This record gives sequence, C-alpha cells and structure tokens, in this order.
Amino acid sequence: MSEPLVRTERSGPVATVFLNRPSVLNAISLALMKELVEALEALDAEEAVRCIVLTGSDRVFAAGADIKEMASAGAVEMYLRNQFAHWDRIGRVRKPVIAAVSGYALGGGCELALLCDLIVASETAVFGQPEVNLGVMPGAGGTQRLTRRVGKAIAMEMVLTGRRLTAADALAFGLVNRVVSVDRCLEEARKLAAEVASRPPLAVRLAKEAILRSFETSLESGIDFERKCFYLLFASEDQKEGMKAFQEKRAPEFKGR
Ligand code: CAA
Repeated sequence: MSEPLVRTERSGPVATVFLNRPSVLNAISLALMKELVEALEALDAEEAVRCIVLTGSDRVFAAGADIKEMASAGAVEMYLRNQFAHWDRIGRVRKPVIAAVSGYALGGGCELALLCDLIVASETAVFGQPEVNLGVMPGAGGTQRLTRRVGKAIAMEMVLTGRRLTAADALAFGLVNRVVSVDRCLEEARKLAAEVASRPPLAVRLAKEAILRSFETSLESGIDFERKCFYLLFASEDQKEGMKAFQEKRAPEFKGR
C-alpha cells in the first residue's frame, strides 16, 4: 500500500496533521488536498478534539500547489477541476487550526498557512508567493488573505516580484505569531494548541467565527454578529461554570456544552 499523503496523530484534545509528500516538498496535489480536507473535517467532527495543528516536516511546510499537475491544463479544465473548492472547505473548519511552519511555505503552501488561525514559524521558515515566476498569480487566496495580514505594500512586493519573507520578516509584518528554533516548532505549536484546547470549546469556536467575520463584513454588522455570539454563549453550561468558578475562586471545568 502507498504511504498516505496526510498523517494524523492525536494527543488528548490536540490533533496534529502532517503533510506527507516529502519527495516533492509536500507539493499540494489534488489527491493530497482531498486527503487533507477529509482529515481536517473528520477532526472537526470529533468531539474529543479541540484544536488542530497542521504541519509539514522540519525541512518544508509545502512548496505550493503541484506545478506538474497543472502545467498542461487549459482554463476550462482548471475551471472544471475546481481545485480551490477544497481550500474553501478548510476555511470552514470550525475548530482552531494552528500551522507549524518550518522551511518553505511557498505559493499554495503560504496560502495554506494563511488559512490557519495562528502560525508558529521556525527560524528556517520562508514565506513567499512565487507564482508570478511561473506566469500566473496566487489562486488560493494569496492576494486577499496575505494583503489583509501584511498590508498592501508588502503583499504587492511579494506577489509582483515573488520575493520571499524570512521568519523574522514574517514576524515583523504580523504574518506569524512567533518564531522558535526548528526543533521546538512543532512542540511550541502543540503547546499553544493545548492552551487553546483548555478553554471552553463553544466560546473558542464562536470567537474564531466572529474574528473571521471581521474580514467579510462592515464594522456594524460584525459587532452585531459578535453580540449575538456573546448572548448565545449564555445558553451554555460552560458560561455558568466559568462565571461560578470565578466567584468560588477555583479553576473552571469546561465541558463544551
Ligand atoms: N510542484 C511540484 N513539484 C515540486 C514543487 C511544486 N510546487 N516544488 C518542488 N517540487 C519538486 C521538484 O520538482 C523536485 O522534484 P524532482 O526531484 O522530481 O525534480 C523536488 O520537489 C525537490 O525540489 P527541488 O529540487 O527544486 O528542491 P530545491 O531545494 O532545489 O528548491 C524550492 C526548493 C525553492 C521550493 C523549489 O522546489 C521551488 O521553487 N518550488 C516551486 C515553488 C513554487 O513555485 N510554488 C508555487 C506553486 S503554484 C501555486 O501554488 C498556485 C496557487 O496559488 C495554489
């Protein structure tokens, strides 16, 4: 049997998904993306899992969409292939997803990291949108999510020239949450995931949804959405427990109910 293109590990409430196509630097083929979406959606549906880490290897996160798979395709074929529908599904995962990025995160690899909610980078991480060097442009959200993250000046430079960002640049421009050594990258992402996983899951999920909504909507309707999520949490056992525990000066026990 051939190796799976995506491998999953679980440790308590934290699941880690590994991209596993090392011979081509985790180039994102249609098959890999299908396995990745299926793995993430399965974890999203699994009650015991509260936070997901997505990673590659120490050498590479992902070197982009599979160029060999696209090279000879025509526009109609690309349209019918609708490969980015899988990417949209990743954007709809409700549990927090943390990318642990070492080495190259280029093209679709950078866009995949940008689809995650938090990014822990190692000192070797390299972020870039080199599609322009291939005669195309980012197609999996790069012009949109990258611009929202780092602003127009940096996004323009990266997308128009293919220039890469070092981990230190990525931190300075707000693309990543923190930079650590390669040997601590996955561990640090899992530690952050465990911290998120220890918080009340319903509050975490609705908060994620509200933050993502801020990129899609006006301030007024975003605040309206936030308020409704806030009120909704008063229907949860975890809100009662959290506020009771505070008053009783003890640690809360959250159940995700
Ligand atoms: N697609 C397919 N194969 C890829 C690949 C990709 N994106 N990136 C690397 N590979 C393959 C190489 O072809 C090579 O395979 P062979 O051994 O069979 O020749 C293998 O991975 C190792 O790669 P290199 O020998 O090139 O390794 P390197 O260390 O010299 O260079 C690199 C590493 C700088 C990342 C270089 O591989 C590279 O530039 N890759 C392409 C990066 C890129 O352009 N990504 C954007 C893709 S388009 C896209 O992502 C569109 C989108 O918006 C979704």
